[in-house]
Amino acid sequence: MDSKLQKYRSKVMSAEEAVSVVESNSRIYLQANAGTPKVLVNALATRAPHVENVEIFHILTFGECPYAAAEVAKHIRHNALFLGANLRDAVNRGDADWTPIFLSDIPKLFYEGYIPLDAALIQVSPPDEHGYCSLGVAVDMTLAACRTAKMLIAEINPKMPRLLGDSFVHISKLDRIVLVDHDLYEYHSGEIDETSKKIGEYIAGEIEDGSTLQMGIGAIPDAVLSFLHDKRNLGIHTEMFSDRAIELIEEGVINGEKKTLHPGKIINCFLMGSRRLYDYVDNNPFVESHPVEYTNDPFVIAQNDKMVAINSALSIDLTGQVNSDSIGHMAYSGFGGQLDFIRGAARSKGGKPIIGMPSTAKKGTISRIVGELAPGAGVVDTRGDVRWVATEYGIVNLFGMTRRQRAKALIELAHPKFREELQEFAIQHRYI
Ligand code: COA
Repeated sequence: MDSKLQKYRSKVMSAEEAVSVVESNSRIYLQANAGTPKVLVNALATRAPHVENVEIFHILTFGECPYAAAEVAKHIRHNALFLGANLRDAVNRGDADWTPIFLSDIPKLFYEGYIPLDAALIQVSPPDEHGYCSLGVAVDMTLAACRTAKMLIAEINPKMPRLLGDSFVHISKLDRIVLVDHDLYEYHSGEIDETSKKIGEYIAGEIEDGSTLQMGIGAIPDAVLSFLHDKRNLGIHTEMFSDRAIELIEEGVINGEKKTLHPGKIINCFLMGSRRLYDYVDNNPFVESHPVEYTNDPFVIAQNDKMVAINSALSIDLTGQVNSDSIGHMAYSGFGGQLDFIRGAARSKGGKPIIGMPSTAKKGTISRIVGELAPGAGVVDTRGDVRWVATEYGIVNLFGMTRRQRAKALIELAHPKFREELQEFAIQHRYI
């Protein structure tokens, strides 16, 4: 055992023993994203038959989801504050819950006692010479959970990178420690298809030298990054980032020199990528992780001049209402930080909030630009928030446009095979 851990050896135990303190009626926080503590999660699922009415809160988790099984849900009910693929079926069949909330607001649930946490299950880096463990790739709302939960149950993993910034928990605060050495979950971006490339190129065309970027996850942000090689002095202030940014950092395109807030630093609250990314950020003074109530606060974001926020959506109606969290009544993801950044970028001097999405879904069979949103479809960005919208047919800024102008502009961004029916809808409802 590491000499720094010797003093705390009485707290070191197996995962099963560590979670045995989870009792009926307790409320548990689970660190998520690439930081999901795999061993504790599995141990908790085996504890399920021994407890009743336990509620567990988390954002997107990776990997197997033993706790989503219907028989576990009778004992431990999950509440997704952002929904990932592994819990989507459970939520939509009623075996788990889904809470619509801005990512920046989640810490408030803990700090202000809306959700009093009995325990937090976390994964941290080994303690440094002063005893501080980093929350690593998932600082987000985990720091708030660590500061408010009655008990911290932690995996200490040498594979968790030590992220600098406001990301630390002192080892003395950990109540139960499980020593692990497993790989973190990784996210690998796929090939960028032709449609995403076109959208990426349109969006990249709007990005001026000296801009600060926020990028969501997925094909479109990845595509945008691949068109930025000839830009200068870009910066990053984001909720999350992944591998593709490294290339631009190494080329000197992303250097943060023109940032008006935290110059020379990449600011983020979580990371999802490959081991290459996790090694890159380890102990790297260029990269700082901060809690989500800071990174995603629109008033903080707005202090970055030329802030460009790039996010995606599921559909948009002809007035500009953006739907990104559900497909009709089916819960799909969540607010995440989308509106936090859309609003922050809108307030920034020279800022540009951008929504980029393919014009169609389901292999081209349906239009994402619609006369009206499907029943149940959640509006994440109101028509007052939305500015730039891009598809593979172009990019347009809706700010200040009348409903008539918006409808016309959005029809131009739709796939040609859907333009006529959109036109008819717009005429029928006297939009145009
Ligand atoms: N109607 C029916 N199905 C639709 C649809 C629509 N309007 N739009 C998309 N779909 C389907 C797609 O065909 C795809 O299905 P498939 O997997 O069977 O091919 C699936 O839904 C996912 O769509 P896609 O566009 O590929 O999703 P994505 O992975 O690019 O994510 C969002 C897009 C909007 C879901 C995602 O960006 C999100 O959750 N945003 C909100 C949170 C956020 O932006 N946070 C800030 C950044 S971290």
